[in-house]
Amino acid sequence: MGLIRTLYFLKNIYAKKVPDIKKIENIGLLAVKIGQHYALRVDFLDEKVCTELSKLYTHSFKSKSGEDFEKLITSYSGKDYFKNFSYVEKKPFTSASIGQVHNATLKSGEKVVIKVVKEDFKKKFLGDLRRMRILFDLVSIFYRKFKKIFNPMGILKNIEDYTMKELNLLNEASGLIFLKNGYEENKSAYGLYGFSFNKIYRELSNENVLVSEKIDGQTFDELLDLGALPYSKLLNLFYVHSFYVFELGEFHGDIHPGNIILGSDNKIYFVDCGAISRISKRVRDSLFNFFDKLSFYEYEEAAFFLNEMAASKISGENFESFKKDFLELYSDFTDSSVSKISLTKRMMETIKLGINHGMEFDEDIFPIIKSFMYMDGMVLKCRPEAVLMKDVREFIKTLKTLRERGIKPHFITFKGVDNEK
Ligand SMILES: Nc1ncnc2c1ncn2[C@@H]1O[C@H](COP(=O)(O)OP(=O)(O)O)[C@@H](O)[C@H]1O
Ligand SMILES: [Mg+2]
Repeated sequence: MGLIRTLYFLKNIYAKKVPDIKKIENIGLLAVKIGQHYALRVDFLDEKVCTELSKLYTHSFKSKSGEDFEKLITSYSGKDYFKNFSYVEKKPFTSASIGQVHNATLKSGEKVVIKVVKEDFKKKFLGDLRRMRILFDLVSIFYRKFKKIFNPMGILKNIEDYTMKELNLLNEASGLIFLKNGYEENKSAYGLYGFSFNKIYRELSNENVLVSEKIDGQTFDELLDLGALPYSKLLNLFYVHSFYVFELGEFHGDIHPGNIILGSDNKIYFVDCGAISRISKRVRDSLFNFFDKLSFYEYEEAAFFLNEMAASKISGENFESFKKDFLELYSDFTDSSVSKISLTKRMMETIKLGINHGMEFDEDIFPIIKSFMYMDGMVLKCRPEAVLMKDVREFIKTLKTLRERGIKPHFITFKGVDNEK
């Protein structure tokens, strides 16, 4: 872990220099996670810096080589574990930073995948965190501003919390079950369509090993690279994701295109469901109204609802001056394609504008920005000439009609697994 290089990169982004993504990636995973965190911090960083840092989200440490699988599994689940399988592929078909994924067949004949946490990862990650804390502490003594602006300890704590959550694969199992129940129980009322959920073999899984039904298909990532993802599938994903965000208030927190599979049955599947994000009722209702107005190019009303979204609102002349700037910012928005105006960039500029006029936003705005980055990126690759705002009108209208009729989702709350640390 390049501690000094990480510090240097923080100093640069603070100085509003657009960071070199390649360099951050070369430093290592913790630096990437820190960079990803700052990508969302439009509240105090330059939006150009954030846009560049957001590229770290599409980063993955994929490689085909993994750790010795048999040794790993035996250490986690005992020697007898292999008796459950008639076939296990020793070589992982993908290996990322945290885990590796293997094809296997159960004794009963069902095709499954086994995801295993790499043993050295936890140790290395916690070691890196510890060293980074010592360094941040040291720097904070000499450089007060650093502590004030970056709140480095808070951020490291946050990164530690969600990485430890990710590292407990039982969280991933509960995340998937939550998404499945939320979908199944509300699909007829909300017209949810096009999704299917793979089975989890809970009795064969534990904190470090997750066995799930093999999904025969390709990830959105692969399909986008091949130019083979139908745009309608993206809209399908956005509708269902919007249902989770706006109606349930709990949603897949990492809709990276590598975590969405289009099955050979033409159904969409979520994988990697360890991170379920939340958004409060107040924020999601005003966010919904904001998009409703924006998609119909009703900018004055959109400005109103952005302010409603803020934890600390502005009023009077302050608001009028904000509205004027807002209208100017959106003067080129009507009917523009995603390649002409990046929605992520515009969203960041919008929030920044609010903040500059005195609004304050809660932290639950960050996972929304993250979702946006992924969606925007996917559309850009799939259909750059799309006017996404117009294309989502239909489903905003559907959700709005249901809201007006007083329909409420069958409410299911996600319950994570406690980490024993
Ligand atoms: N049940 C599954 N069926 C088929 N492929 C899977 C399944 N689960 C994961 N994968 C594949 O493995 C890759 C990595 O799995 P994922 O759970 O996203 O791990 P990571 O945390 O490393 O991103 C996915 O991008 C997908 O291609
Ligand atoms: Mg993944």
